[in-house]
Amino acid sequence: MAQRIKIGKSTVTTTPLGLGTNKVGGHNLFDGLKDEDGVEVVKAALEDGISLLDTAYMYGLGKSEEIIGNVTQDYDRSKFVIATKAAQDPNNDLKPNNDPKFLKKSVDDALQRLQTDYIDIFYIHFPDDKTPKAEAVQALAEEKKAGKIKAIGVSNFSLDQIKEANADNQVDIVEDNYSLVHREAEKEEFPYLKEHQISFVPYFPLSSGLLTGKYTPADNSKFSRFSSKQYTAIMAALEKVKAIAVAHQATVAQTILAWYIKNQNISVVIPGARVADQVHSNAQAMDITISDDEFKQIDQLFKQF
Ligand SMILES: NC(=O)c1ccc[n+]([C@@H]2O[C@H](COP(=O)([O-])OP(=O)(O)OC[C@H]3O[C@@H](n4cnc5c(N)ncnc54)[C@H](OP(=O)(O)O)[C@@H]3O)[C@@H](O)[C@H]2O)c1
Repeated sequence: MAQRIKIGKSTVTTTPLGLGTNKVGGHNLFDGLKDEDGVEVVKAALEDGISLLDTAYMYGLGKSEEIIGNVTQDYDRSKFVIATKAAQDPNNDLKPNNDPKFLKKSVDDALQRLQTDYIDIFYIHFPDDKTPKAEAVQALAEEKKAGKIKAIGVSNFSLDQIKEANADNQVDIVEDNYSLVHREAEKEEFPYLKEHQISFVPYFPLSSGLLTGKYTPADNSKFSRFSSKQYTAIMAALEKVKAIAVAHQATVAQTILAWYIKNQNISVVIPGARVADQVHSNAQAMDITISDDEFKQIDQLFKQF
């Protein structure tokens, strides 16, 4: 089993693979979800030794946190790490709110839904356009001092906003859109985070399922953000990943997840899951070590993105 990862300057440590839970109770975001599946997804993660559960108020407007809160009552709290996020204001059409009072109330509300007395990682989910970022982070620093949270995160902040938020060196972790087919963060964000000892968690690591290799050339319309030329290139690259996967008796998804685990710029990869079997399969990526050469090959296959 892979070694534990330390989050930023905090005391929090986790396995290098976590669970994304926007399909656990996230009825406002996805059609056709069943709460029973969500329960099994969380149990599967905890049974397989996945320590980090990544949730948010926004996933079901509290429902994801509630499901996690219920399921985790049967598990040893010291063995898993909860990351949650807030910003969407239910009293203002879910517009981002980073006001210190709002953030502090959000921490208290999340603690209740999660049925726990501390949250390991608390992220500001989205920046608002009025609160000075350092003031918002200071509110979380006070929550950290009070023992309610253990690490401070920001998500969906531009690099300038991250710098402003981290004015007092208090940000431990950043969560942003990044994957082999969405590599913007590599240019300027990664060097800044590394220099300031801030961990990075990519969201959409499987590009919403595309990088599992389960889609065919005919499915381009399901991924309309990619032109047909780009989509064809992704399909061709995934065919080549398949050869590396076969050599490890692994799936394409496991091989791609093993690439993130080996990537020094990434702290924790948090693939989402709709059903428990996906979690069981993804968890096995922690037992797969790709070689330096295979790492470079996969890197090059997707270099154009
Ligand atoms: N901070 C933010 O603003 C933000 C934004 C987005 C997401 N997130 C977080 O990041 C996490 C990851 O992102 P994501 O879940 O949206 O996308 P993702 O990890 O790129 O893709 C996850 C989806 O791929 C499919 N999948 C996963 N494993 C599979 C497997 N082994 N075989 C086949 N299909 C598989 C499942 O969908 P289907 O079965 O439906 O195909 C699953 O829901 C989220 O769960 C959430 O916690 C954060």
